[in-house]
Amino acid sequence: MSASLKRVIYVSERADTSNSDLQEIINSSRVNNPQKDITGCLVSGINSYLQLLEGPDAAVDELYRKISKDTRHTNIVILNEEVIDSRLFTSWSMRLDPFNNLMWSDEEINAGNFLNITATNALNIFTRIHEQGKSVF
Ligand SMILES: Cc1cc2nc3c(=O)[nH]c(=O)nc-3n(C[C@H](O)[C@H](O)[C@H](O)COP(=O)(O)O)c2cc1C
Repeated sequence: MSASLKRVIYVSERADTSNSDLQEIINSSRVNNPQKDITGCLVSGINSYLQLLEGPDAAVDELYRKISKDTRHTNIVILNEEVIDSRLFTSWSMRLDPFNNLMWSDEEINAGNFLNITATNALNIFTRIHEQGKSVF
């Protein structure tokens, strides 16, 4: 029997608002995540990150613990944590979506600030990214 799948969505405040951290984060993700059967999506806003992690229960917990200690961001808040039947980002070890690539309507999202985003809006964003099927990489 396969392990149950889990999804975690969190928001955090970027320590470095230039893009220098971002490529390193994506590079580690694309090396490490396939080994742990983790997929997901990272949205970079002007001052914040919004990330969806999905995969086997224990692997997601372990990765989240590691990420939560990373000094490249602070004020990490989990918005959604639940068991799932299927993944949204099946073929992405970590999809990157710069926020300005998307057309979102809510004011805070238009400002690239996810820090006060609701769980529902966060999930909607990832559902929309998934449905649009577009990315810069
Ligand atoms: C916003 C953010 C998202 C991250 N996402 C991932 C990820 O999906 N997978 C991953 O392995 N590391 C991710 N990291 C990096 C980890 O915190 C950690 O630095 C990295 O996994 C260490 O990898 P290494 O042991 O191969 O050097 C993320 C870091 C930040 C700040």
